[in-house]
Amino acid sequence: MPNAADSDDVDSSPGPTRLWGGRFAGGPAEALAKLSVSVHFDWRLAPYDLAGSKAHARVLHRAALLSDEELERMLAGLEQLEADVRSGAFTATEADEDVHTALERGLLERLGPLGGKLRAGRSRNDQVATDLRLYLRDAARQVAAAVVGLEEALLGLAERDIDVPAPGMTHLQHAQPVLFAHQLLAHVHPLARDVSRLRDWDVRADWSPLGAGALAGSSLPLDPDAVAKDLGFSGPVANSIDAVSDRDFVAEFLFCAALLGVHLSRLGEEVCLWATSEFSWVRLDDAFSTGSSIMPQKKNPDIAELARGKAGRFVGHLTAVLTMLKGLPLAYDRDMQEDKEPVFDAVEQLLLVLPAMAGMVATLSVDGERLRASTPTGHALATDVAEWLVRQGTAFRDAHEISGAFVSWCDARGLELWEVPDEDLARIDTRLTPEVRSVLSVDGALAARSTTGGTAPARVVEQLAALRTAVAEQLQWASA
Ligand code: ARG
Repeated sequence: MPNAADSDDVDSSPGPTRLWGGRFAGGPAEALAKLSVSVHFDWRLAPYDLAGSKAHARVLHRAALLSDEELERMLAGLEQLEADVRSGAFTATEADEDVHTALERGLLERLGPLGGKLRAGRSRNDQVATDLRLYLRDAARQVAAAVVGLEEALLGLAERDIDVPAPGMTHLQHAQPVLFAHQLLAHVHPLARDVSRLRDWDVRADWSPLGAGALAGSSLPLDPDAVAKDLGFSGPVANSIDAVSDRDFVAEFLFCAALLGVHLSRLGEEVCLWATSEFSWVRLDDAFSTGSSIMPQKKNPDIAELARGKAGRFVGHLTAVLTMLKGLPLAYDRDMQEDKEPVFDAVEQLLLVLPAMAGMVATLSVDGERLRASTPTGHALATDVAEWLVRQGTAFRDAHEISGAFVSWCDARGLELWEVPDEDLARIDTRLTPEVRSVLSVDGALAARSTTGGTAPARVVEQLAALRTAVAEQLQWASA
């Protein structure tokens, strides 16, 4: 097997493969090498770098820079390297600066000097930008599929407990009755927007930097259009400087992740509340909750808490990348190597937390009795009284006062609204006739809120069906 030092494309001194040895008298200082190395994290890009290499080999051939026979051997060498990367037979070593260096070493080990021809017209600058786009386009689909898993869990729970009412809250105080399913679907909509946002992102990520070279394009007759098509992009980036300088797709992806993380944290917080002894709306399944090392009775919502906690990490990643990019001169700067760990971590953490959240939600048991009993408490039907008065012809300003007086009458006597006898209703205000009782029930209050997007059972059933259709379509995109 020829040694890396046999190739004139790498430094001629024996030792590690470097892609930039020629004009340097000696190797890099250890402190530089340690600071500069990225292969321990950018190795994740290996499959995408190899895909880019195959596409590049084909355009080199079309430009008559590789013979038929050389192309065949080059592609076979790349296939072999790909298989060895997949099986683990070839791995990066500490001496490889980055994924591109490691894979060039692998190719040289397999093909000898022919391996050194592949780098013509290509730079790590356009390579890394291309690899990262390819990686993130796959990741966006995996994350979207995992979001769909959580959406489906929420839809399943909403469907199962479609008749259960709940106290709708503002300021974390009982406000108006809602269906518990309506509250659950209110968490599905943000998630659906998260998937939609990833799809919008994908439209802008769909352009290939490969062919930009270091920054200015190439004097070799390469074909960036053909490379772009080969890699599943719509076309090449229109400006070679932008191609290697742009990390909008990283920052934007991290915004998608951060907002998704915020949505997960809000759902996580509600699950934590719902599972407290004070609320006791839901019970967590044993498989999706944890115990305490000292308190035998504990059942803790760790998944919901971790989901809540990780939001900080995602926001941090977005902040890190935006701050790194701020003020960077065009074109490539080494600062940009700092773009990778944040996105890799964001993707990997989302792929951990989303399935756990989905499992936790799918296995929640809802205490419908308790929810029904607590729904009208805290005078949650006071708005219904006011709106009933409006329907009888009272101005809302007066109706609000009358209903407020009704509430304070009850508070002073420890009564709920529906417990006040007819004669006392009349004493509070003559306009409070016994007919007001028609709205002093949870089911009446729910059914009455039948405007578009409202919590009336008929509206919620429609909403659920529409979300089912939307989510199925999202899954199609994610698995394409
Ligand atoms: N590891 C580098 C990065 O992630 C690859 C590009 C290096 N380019 C260069 N001119 N040193 O950004």
